[in-house]
Formats: sequence, C-alpha cells, structure tokens
Amino acid sequence: MSVRIIDGKATAAAIREELAGQVAALAPAAGRKPGLAVILVGEDPASQTYVRNKQRACDEIGVASELLHLPPDTSQLRLLRCIDALNTREDVDGILLQLPLPRGLENLSCLERIRPDKDVDGFHPDNMGRLVSGLPGLRPCTPAGVMELLKRHAFFLEGKRAVVLGRSNIVGKPLAIMLGARTEYANATVTVCHSQSKNITEICQSADFLFAAMGQPGFIRGDMVKPGAVVIDVGISVTEQGLRGDCDFASVSRTASAITPVPGGVGPMTIAMLLRNTLEAYTKHLGRI
Ligand code: GUN
Repeated sequence: MSVRIIDGKATAAAIREELAGQVAALAPAAGRKPGLAVILVGEDPASQTYVRNKQRACDEIGVASELLHLPPDTSQLRLLRCIDALNTREDVDGILLQLPLPRGLENLSCLERIRPDKDVDGFHPDNMGRLVSGLPGLRPCTPAGVMELLKRHAFFLEGKRAVVLGRSNIVGKPLAIMLGARTEYANATVTVCHSQSKNITEICQSADFLFAAMGQPGFIRGDMVKPGAVVIDVGISVTEQGLRGDCDFASVSRTASAITPVPGGVGPMTIAMLLRNTLEAYTKHLGRI
C-alpha cells in the first residue's frame, strides 16, 4: 500500500482563503485592516526568512503587517519598551516576537510582556495556562496547525496512542496537551519523549500517531515506525541538502500509512494559524472598542 502524503500547503492555502473572506467582510465596517506587528531582533538568516514568509501571508489576506527590526545588540530594556509601545497601539491587534532571541535577551520575560490578548503566538504564560486548563485563548501556532491538519484530513485520535518527540514550549509541550485534551479530534493517550528518554525506538514503535518535533534532521527511520502509523514531521532544519524534517522521508514512507512532507507539511499550517490568531485578536479587539 502506498503512503498518503498529507498536503499542508494546500490545506493552509484553503484556510488562508477562508480568512481572506473574513477580513474582507470585517475590515470595511471596522475602518481598518487587522494589524500584526512582528519584532525581529538580530540578523539570523532563518528567522529573516520565516518573518518574510509571515509578512507575505499577511499581505495576501489583507492583514497589515509591520516589521520592527532591532539590532542584535538590543538591550532587554529597549526590547521591553518596544513591546510596551505596541501593547498600547490601537491599530496593532497582534504582536509576534520572533524566536530565538540573540544571547543576552531573556525569552520568557520578553514574551510575558506582550499583552495576552495580543499574543498571537500563544506563548504568554496566561495563554499557556488557559491551554492547560482547557479554557479558550490564543493557541501556539505550530501545534494548533498540527491539530487543524489532522482534523481537516479526518484523522481521529480518540483512544489512540500518540507519541510526541520533543518538549519545547513552542511545539512539544503544547502539542502534547492538545492531543490529550478532552476535545473532538484529540483524546489520545500521549507519551512525550525527550533527550533523556530511554528506549525511544520502542516507544516510537508503539505509536499510532507519531509527532517528530525535536529538530534533528532524519532522526526517525522507517524501522522506528509501527506499520500503518500516521507520522507528522514538525522538524525543519536547514541543511546542506536544503530543508529537512526530523524524519527520513524515504524509509518512513515505506512503513507509515500517512506522512507530512518537509517542506509543504506543518510549516504552512503554522503561518495559517498565525493569521487565524491575528483575526481572532482583531475581532475581539473591535468588540471592545
Ligand atoms: N521561532 C520558531 N518558531 C517560531 C514561532 O512559531 N513563533 C515565533 N515567534 N518564533 C519562532
């Protein structure tokens, strides 16, 4: 049986089209477009590419994006002041601080400074706490994109064994919570593996759904995957051979029943969820004015 390739690029394009329709319906009456401010500190080439892609996607659906590009030696105080100014601006609905930050800047205290209702990345402890508590709130884009991809491709996880590789605040941790939540398209039995886990191969082989999010290109090989499993590759690494996921695509494709490609899998879904969050922040913001 041949493997099913889960096309995140097409799914994300369909979502962007839906969102463009919503912006077109809301913006004329509101008198302004939704606004996203993106803060990029330093010159990391991968971050610059990600930010460019995010801004292009905003443009495409009628979201006004603004880039605040700060030098690599920006002090914590200056960055916090920049966030404070965006927090109070009426035309800014969403604020995104591109990670990683240069050395010397403290991720969590900067993320915590973003007003939770403008936190379109869903990384603020308030939004993370809401996620853990099962309350509505802005959700981190990559795990939300994974869940949306599963839903739109009609994969049902209820009672299934899900294994998440990686425990980052951006992906692994929130994804594990979403997969185990008492919600439609979730309700899985979740195991999280990380750098100190033993018997990773055996644990992976037990997964009906395997989520690779540790950022190690080609780590998951076909013999680590249960025959017929669904494999979601969240890793994106820039290598000499180009962009590579955490899975060895050729061998995993021979064992799995479905797999996301890299590029063209989860990546475009992350951006689609950023746009969705920005629109959600915008509609809430308009409701409060
Ligand atoms: N760096 C890598 N992934 C992300 C993300 O989803 N959001 C932000 N802000 N930075 C990132």
